[in-house]
Amino acid sequence: MTVEQIPSHPVPQRLLDASKCPKPHVSSIEQYKAMWQESVDDPEKFFGNLAKELLSWSKPFDTVKHGSFENGDIAWFMGGELNASYNCVDRHAMKNPDKVAIIHEGDEPDQVRKITYGELLRDVSKMANVLKSRGVRKGDNVAIYMPMIPEAIVAILACTRIGAPHSVVFAGFSAESLRDRVVDCSARVVITSDEGRRGGKNIATKRIVDDALGKGQANQVESVIVFKRTGTPVPWVEDRDVWWHDEMAKARSVCAPEPMNAEDPLFLLYTSGSTGTPKGILHTTGGYLLGAATTVKYIFDVHPNDVYACMADIGWVTGHSYIVYGPLTLGATTVLFESTPTYPNPSRFWDLIQKHKITQFYTAPTAIRALRRLGDQWLDGYDLSSLRILGSVGEPINPEAWNWYNEKVGKNQCAIVDTYWQTETGSIIVSPLPGAIATKAGSATLPFFGVKPMILDPTTGKEITEPDVTGVLAISQPWPSMARTVYNNHTRFLDTYLNPYPGFYFTGDGASRDADGYLWVRGRVDDVINVSGHRLSTAEIESALVNHETVAEAAVVGGNDDLTGQCIHAFVSLKPHVEAGEGLEKELTLQVRKIIGPFATPKRVYLISDHPKTRSGKIMRRILRKIVNGEQDSLGDISTLADPSIVEQLIQKVHGDN
Ligand code: WT7
Repeated sequence: MTVEQIPSHPVPQRLLDASKCPKPHVSSIEQYKAMWQESVDDPEKFFGNLAKELLSWSKPFDTVKHGSFENGDIAWFMGGELNASYNCVDRHAMKNPDKVAIIHEGDEPDQVRKITYGELLRDVSKMANVLKSRGVRKGDNVAIYMPMIPEAIVAILACTRIGAPHSVVFAGFSAESLRDRVVDCSARVVITSDEGRRGGKNIATKRIVDDALGKGQANQVESVIVFKRTGTPVPWVEDRDVWWHDEMAKARSVCAPEPMNAEDPLFLLYTSGSTGTPKGILHTTGGYLLGAATTVKYIFDVHPNDVYACMADIGWVTGHSYIVYGPLTLGATTVLFESTPTYPNPSRFWDLIQKHKITQFYTAPTAIRALRRLGDQWLDGYDLSSLRILGSVGEPINPEAWNWYNEKVGKNQCAIVDTYWQTETGSIIVSPLPGAIATKAGSATLPFFGVKPMILDPTTGKEITEPDVTGVLAISQPWPSMARTVYNNHTRFLDTYLNPYPGFYFTGDGASRDADGYLWVRGRVDDVINVSGHRLSTAEIESALVNHETVAEAAVVGGNDDLTGQCIHAFVSLKPHVEAGEGLEKELTLQVRKIIGPFATPKRVYLISDHPKTRSGKIMRRILRKIVNGEQDSLGDISTLADPSIVEQLIQKVHGDN
């Protein structure tokens, strides 16, 4: 289907019916348009007001907006002071101590824990005191490597309470990836658990931490705080490891929140780019928190009695903004889900929604596609009528998956919000507003407040204004929650995001804009691939492969995949005189899992005699990409290759057996 043939879905009537649903915060397209216009024409006024309305400041800010893309010195709410943990916990605990802050649904469906704002305040304060007792001071970075348990949120907020930026590392990352991240941010404290539990399996988080820290470079780490999740005995390093429960038992339950400058760092989050090592994306306190809160308010349209659920992992930015900071800043009830969509069976999401009467449900296209494939019978008999808003994030959602989500899960009665954003943007930048913007399957629709997107011609960098165009997606003015820098490497920040198209923030994505002004994000235009919503750098996977003693050269490209969106195809040539022994492909696959993590497992590894190279020796990845995607009939001019005959061999290798 082309874009023109995709029908537009009006805002569901039910959402606008005051007898059925709370009135949406924005309830007409005119209201959205007026607010958006003001947000980009007069951001000082628009965000100045919102910052006063949604956040509590211990010292008011003097200026709303400062700096420019040209100078790379963006700052918001300068002069203002606030504390994120105070905003997420204390103020709600004072007003409403018994309101549930976190519903934890454990790996087994009968393991449910509810934590009130009052309890959260006590735990966060205690943990903050524990961190202080381990020598953590304002400005020290703390690494968190934890499963999806409430203590992960407690750890995050305890850091922000004392002004220690956290660096959460997704617990699916390998020991080596964890070590790189711990070393890069010089963390002296790591918070983890004995094990994690997911889909009925145990995950050896503590052992991975031990492996990461045991190899010399990371010996700056003085303390490892270990939460007991499963009780399985774990190795212990005396003088370094302490139990969470022992320390908490000794800690005072009162800890004054540290007043932070609006521009003080709140956290680091490492993400993959097209080149080199992962970047520590740095977010600051005021602007980030406002972005997270504003988007939850307007895009998820949260109201006081809602039960809001985001299925992401806290190790990714979606978990940061949409499990922790956004909902808690608003004083909402947030669901933390430890398991998988198919454990113990593929009804798990629907069981979760019915049990907790979830009103907003946020997941990824890859999960929707997997559940759709398993069949509609898994939805039978579940009452999903509490739902109002269904969110999607992480990659473009194909219309088949969108329609299934809308019809089978939402029963055509919910707003579907396809939310486009990135680790670097801090919060959602393109999305429908549920009560205001008509949707089209596969389009993230219109920009959020403060965001002015442009489609640029990739070669000239000129803005393309006509309707129905495709180009690279850029943003033309700063918004509050955008990343401020790459940790310890501002030049890299400028070179990656602000210098490619001067005067713009460059997203790295390609996009089209249709005649209605709707945006259709097409995917990355750089060497980043997106597997099940996980962002991976081809360069990192290649370097993991080249690390293997047998490998001479490796080239990794993204293939299309019905389930995971993209998948990893690796082309590997061996060193001279190395015999491709039995099982080498498997060994190389394991090599990538070991160095990066299981989510980076290549789908195929091809052992080849040589790569398609230009005469100057550059690997033509474009040719590999076309071959794996079945486009070998449109390879274009291959006469510039040093050895054009290699192409036929590659086609044989990839497609030979069918
Ligand atoms: C990349 C960012 C921040 C969300 C989690 C991933 C892709 C994300 C969408 C969407 C099309 C999307 C982009 C983006 N992406 N959401 N709704 N439609 N593409 O965060 O790991 O920083 O990855 O994910 O390619 O650049 P991330």
